[in-house]
Amino acid sequence: MKNTFGNSVSLTLFGESHGEYTGAVIDGLAPGITVDEKYIANRLSLRRPSGKTGTKRIEKDNFRIISGVFRGKTTGTPLCVIIPNENVKSEDYARESIIPRPGHADYTANCKYHGFEDYRGSGHFSGRLTAPLVAAGAIMQYALENKGIYIGTHIARCAKINDRPFKNINEDIKTLGKKKFAVLDEAKSKKMQEAIILAAKDGDSVGGILETAVTGIPAGTGEPWFDTMESMLSHALFSIPAVKGVQFGNAFKNVDLPGSKYNDEFAVSAGSIITRTNHNGGINGGITNGMPVIFSCAVKPTPSIFKQQNSVDLTEMENTVIQTSGRHDPAVIHRARAVVDAVTALVICDMLALRYGTDFLGE
Ligand SMILES: Cc1cc2nc3c(=O)[nH]c(=O)nc-3n(C[C@H](O)[C@H](O)[C@H](O)COP(=O)(O)O)c2cc1C
Repeated sequence: MKNTFGNSVSLTLFGESHGEYTGAVIDGLAPGITVDEKYIANRLSLRRPSGKTGTKRIEKDNFRIISGVFRGKTTGTPLCVIIPNENVKSEDYARESIIPRPGHADYTANCKYHGFEDYRGSGHFSGRLTAPLVAAGAIMQYALENKGIYIGTHIARCAKINDRPFKNINEDIKTLGKKKFAVLDEAKSKKMQEAIILAAKDGDSVGGILETAVTGIPAGTGEPWFDTMESMLSHALFSIPAVKGVQFGNAFKNVDLPGSKYNDEFAVSAGSIITRTNHNGGINGGITNGMPVIFSCAVKPTPSIFKQQNSVDLTEMENTVIQTSGRHDPAVIHRARAVVDAVTALVICDMLALRYGTDFLGE
């Protein structure tokens, strides 16, 4: 029943969609890291829904840091950030019998928590819990930027429309940090947003692929075998609701290449070791090689749709149909992008603290 991730730097997530607060506790952070509230607020704004591409449940995300920070710097003791739920409509979830939504966690939560789960607005399994995750991740992302490590995610594909690939990665990451809808090619961005709105009008939803790049991670980061950079990133990425696939580099497509093409040949460049291609996504043997770490996440279409679907009545144990109500995102991919950045920051902070010690992230 654990809700904690990480070894040297760990994060515990708590709360429910319609409870009073959601929140996160980070433990193991170095003392002396600047906590920039404007930076946190900006990262939260990138996750917040808006317009016709998102749910009508829009929250101000008035976060409060209630421990672990003194005079704007981390103290090194557990840092707790809380965010109130201020826009809930629990009457949408009034329940006479239990009819789980296909694709959501209603049925599995019921199996695990024996009916004691708070099911309102998906309870503990709601995308709402990604708000404190993003707030906590922002503190770590800021610390990483001070060490020259940059993280950026774009919507590589949505509703069958492709964005352009990363080109100048550091420039692209900078651009993405300013974009609410994180697509590099503006024309494609417009098309994707139109496709999401069209799906919403039809009572349906769409998914896609998020591609992330991380630059500046020192070569040699990652543990052998079980806590590799790939395993830890995948573990954290699969914790994000609606993420159903993870690949490093362009792994699933590139399996068709012969070894002679897949291998990333080495070269010396300006006194550093680089690779001439990056099919391995900057990781060999689970350990970073100094090239950008590149990975992608498959984000499924939002499960709560407004079309009638087959389900079961768990109270009566009979087949029935469900017509979902409530407020939902017609796509979660554009909001999940800030969450991917946040968990990536958590993993990298954890792996760096493991290798170089807690104080590595201090200023
Ligand atoms: C930022 C974000 C917002 C989400 N919003 C919704 C939503 O409005 N409605 C919904 O049904 N699912 C939403 N989801 C996805 C569900 O939480 C998720 O599909 C569900 O918990 C089942 O988990 P799984 O898809 O990983 O199996 C959202 C996910 C994220 C990351």
